[in-house]
Amino acid sequence: MGRDTLSAMPPVNIRRAQPEDAPATGKICYEAFHKINSDHGFPPDLPSVEHAVNVMSTMFGHPGFYCVVAEEGGRIAGSNCMDERSPIAGIGPITVDPGVQNRGVGRKLMQAVMDRARERNFPGVRLVQAAFHTRSLSLYATLGFDAREPLSVMQGPAIKKRLEGCFVRPAGPEDLDACNRVSVKVHGHHRGGDLADSIAQGTAAVVERHGRITAYCSSLAFFGHAVGETNLDLQALIAAAEGFGGPGILVPTRNSELFRWCLANGLRVVEPMTLMTVGLYNEPAGAYLASILY
Ligand SMILES: CC(C)(COP(=O)(O)OP(=O)(O)OC[C@H]1O[C@@H](n2cnc3c(N)ncnc32)[C@H](O)[C@@H]1OP(=O)(O)O)[C@@H](O)C(=O)NCCC(=O)NCCS
Repeated sequence: MGRDTLSAMPPVNIRRAQPEDAPATGKICYEAFHKINSDHGFPPDLPSVEHAVNVMSTMFGHPGFYCVVAEEGGRIAGSNCMDERSPIAGIGPITVDPGVQNRGVGRKLMQAVMDRARERNFPGVRLVQAAFHTRSLSLYATLGFDAREPLSVMQGPAIKKRLEGCFVRPAGPEDLDACNRVSVKVHGHHRGGDLADSIAQGTAAVVERHGRITAYCSSLAFFGHAVGETNLDLQALIAAAEGFGGPGILVPTRNSELFRWCLANGLRVVEPMTLMTVGLYNEPAGAYLASILY
């Protein structure tokens, strides 16, 4: 698009998202992901407009998320969210109406949440990017994000096996501190805000070996994360799951042992993604599954 055409566009205004913005932003979110994925031959990340509206409405109404919308000429053109529930912030989903993409709205939505992260002194900010999407990759890289880890979204039938020596059970509020310690050991920071919500929702689980917690998951799903001292711990969680929510779990592809174990147990790769980070990042000292928020 030429400079003259761009200067003729109405100015873009960024403001805090309100719960009543969920229908318009949810529709854009569904359409933007549907288009980019189907253009590249991948299934949609979100199954329907209703589902996307629900995701938006949950995030917009949650005090632990900072969400913004972009308006162009009084019309909503896109939205972005940042998870502020834990010491490291996580960005997403960001989406711009396919009809107005590639003319600066996405950059403004990213700058708005990164400004907020700076004001709130988050030591690090992370996101997960669809690896086939050249535009988002370039946008995030120019904003300072480093590509850290290739991820494979994996889906398949429940494995329903118990692994020797590993006891998997639902997590309760009394497990939060022990789970946070596992995360600090592996990542250098905890993800207790996300985990506390998942415990309340009943999706979190822990692994006990020799009578102590060695791993946990907030959920085995696209929006869930897991951390374990070893691959065996994560395998126990994955093997015990009743199923994998959304498009699937996000397995670090360079963790060859875990990746091959998932393949050998019937999981298939749905799509490639990339974990990107700015600010504090420690190479994990253990095993983990990323969530779509990082
Ligand atoms: C990703 C998304 C939010 C970006 O929003 P956008 O308004 O289209 O992006 P912008 O125009 O602000 O920025 C795109 C930048 O990438 C650059 N770019 C685009 N394609 C590029 C390429 N192939 N190589 C290098 N740079 C490229 C543009 O020049 C622009 O940079 P500039 O600001 O320096 O000019 C939007 O495209 C979208 O909704 N995509 C579908 C959903 C999605 O993938 N969301 C992200 C999930 S990770």
